[in-house]
Amino acid sequence: MQAVVIGATGACGKYLVSSLLQSKDDVAKVTLLSRRRLEEVAGVDVAAEESAGRLYQHVEDLDSVSDDTVRQLCGGAHVFFNALGTTRRAAGSAAAFRHIDLEIPERFSRLAQEAGVKHCSVVTSTGSNPNSWFLYLRTKGELESAVRGMGFSRVSLFRPGGLNRGDSMRTVEKIAALVIPTLSVELVGQALAQDAINYHTSTGDQQQNDREMIANNSAIRRLAQQFQQKVSPPPAATTTTEPPPQQPAPEVEKD
Ligand SMILES: NC(=O)c1ccc[n+]([C@@H]2O[C@H](COP(=O)([O-])OP(=O)(O)OC[C@H]3O[C@@H](n4cnc5c(N)ncnc54)[C@H](OP(=O)(O)O)[C@@H]3O)[C@@H](O)[C@H]2O)c1
Repeated sequence: MQAVVIGATGACGKYLVSSLLQSKDDVAKVTLLSRRRLEEVAGVDVAAEESAGRLYQHVEDLDSVSDDTVRQLCGGAHVFFNALGTTRRAAGSAAAFRHIDLEIPERFSRLAQEAGVKHCSVVTSTGSNPNSWFLYLRTKGELESAVRGMGFSRVSLFRPGGLNRGDSMRTVEKIAALVIPTLSVELVGQALAQDAINYHTSTGDQQQNDREMIANNSAIRRLAQQFQQKVSPPPAATTTTEPPPQQPAPEVEKD
């Protein structure tokens, strides 16, 4: 599988890149499109992966990068991931927030689809709704609707509640965490990677019946658990020659 990622330098994005690159049997190449380089990734030697050609970083302002460049970078990729985002406060205005959380991902997703990418995987939020009164939830809902209408063979919508990013949590996130169940950004990254691997290693018939996946916190946890069992499987039993029981595939919410 080959993947393209926007938002790779963010809290979820870094763990997504880490999880993809740790999936050596399933992931051949990861291309990042970001405004700055990703220098460190947990569990991965960035320089070695770049030398080996498994990791490629295109660094450019996302408003300046041309349509042709984006299409070229997406050529041959199987999945386009979007973990981009900001807050209204950081963006400075509602319009600037919508530009980063909706217009940029919408444009890059459309170009990825034009380049032949079949699967689009997006981090939005619990409560995403294009008709919401709240700017944040409305913008996320509008992005979901836009991506659904682009003609991808498969759309994955990740809707975490609050995100737990450890020490780098923003004040508003710390307050929200008191009332909303939170999820570690590491689990979100692992789940994004595992969902794409599951889809791309399934048969054509299975893919025909699997056109959209919506993952809330519990589905994200199950996918992340599947990833963890693959990367660090429990020690093999030594007292029996019988094979261990097969892990059932995680159940994920579908429309
Ligand atoms: N915070 C929460 O509790 C929460 C809950 C549910 C869902 N979400 C959503 O989950 C997604 C991932 O969240 P996160 O916390 O992992 O995000 P994050 O750490 O804030 O990272 C955001 C990413 O977007 C990039 N970005 C922001 N503005 C940009 C711009 N103008 N041009 C280019 N790149 C830009 C950042 O690049 P730089 O590194 O260069 O800044 C970074 O890669 C977001 O869409 C967020 O809204 C968040």
